[in-house]
Amino acid sequence: MKFFVDTAEIDAIKELHALGMVDGVTTNPSLIAKSGRDILEVTKEICDIVSGPVSAEVVALDADTMLAEGRKLAKIADNIAVKVPLTWAGLQTCKALSDEGTMVNVTLCFSANQALLAAKAGATFISPFIGRLDDINIDGLELIEDIRTIYDNYGFDTQILAASIRSANHMSECAKIGADVATAPPGVIKAMANHVLTDKGLAGFMADVEKAGIKIL
Ligand code: G3P
Repeated sequence: MKFFVDTAEIDAIKELHALGMVDGVTTNPSLIAKSGRDILEVTKEICDIVSGPVSAEVVALDADTMLAEGRKLAKIADNIAVKVPLTWAGLQTCKALSDEGTMVNVTLCFSANQALLAAKAGATFISPFIGRLDDINIDGLELIEDIRTIYDNYGFDTQILAASIRSANHMSECAKIGADVATAPPGVIKAMANHVLTDKGLAGFMADVEKAGIKIL
């Protein structure tokens, strides 16, 4: 499973990238607003760090303006994936941009039917939002499973990009189901390293290091 990092914070991207943990980056208008940076400038900076797909989202609601925005975003770098919402206008924009050879990430997906439409429209990535479904008592991981089944049934090559990931557990569950990509905030990726027994085991080793005066350097 590829790891995308869901942030527009440059330092966090650099830290994870140095460890080989960043196969791509996703941003959205809320993350850009949080960064306090200009969208074109910060997106360019991210593309200079990461060679994998970097999602940058349109902000218009109608297809003509979305397409113009998408073309402008795509000019930032070769690894831009234009992110469009799963609306009819977003699907029209997806089809036009993918026909032009631009990667498209269709976002705000909450149903298997929406994912089916995005694949038909040529999406490179479909972004089902797990956490926001869980928030309203609908199993977000079940949606990932349903989309995996549908895409595999018909050989769609649209990649399932699990989004709105809120916990380390979401990451391993997505990997078990077979999501192609999971995008998570830096804190969730780092939390994957945590285990209470690792902490306990290390404390025991350190006590023995102290007791025996073990030195390596
Ligand atoms: O990639 C989409 C993601 O940023 C949404 O996450 O936590 O705002 O639902 P969240």
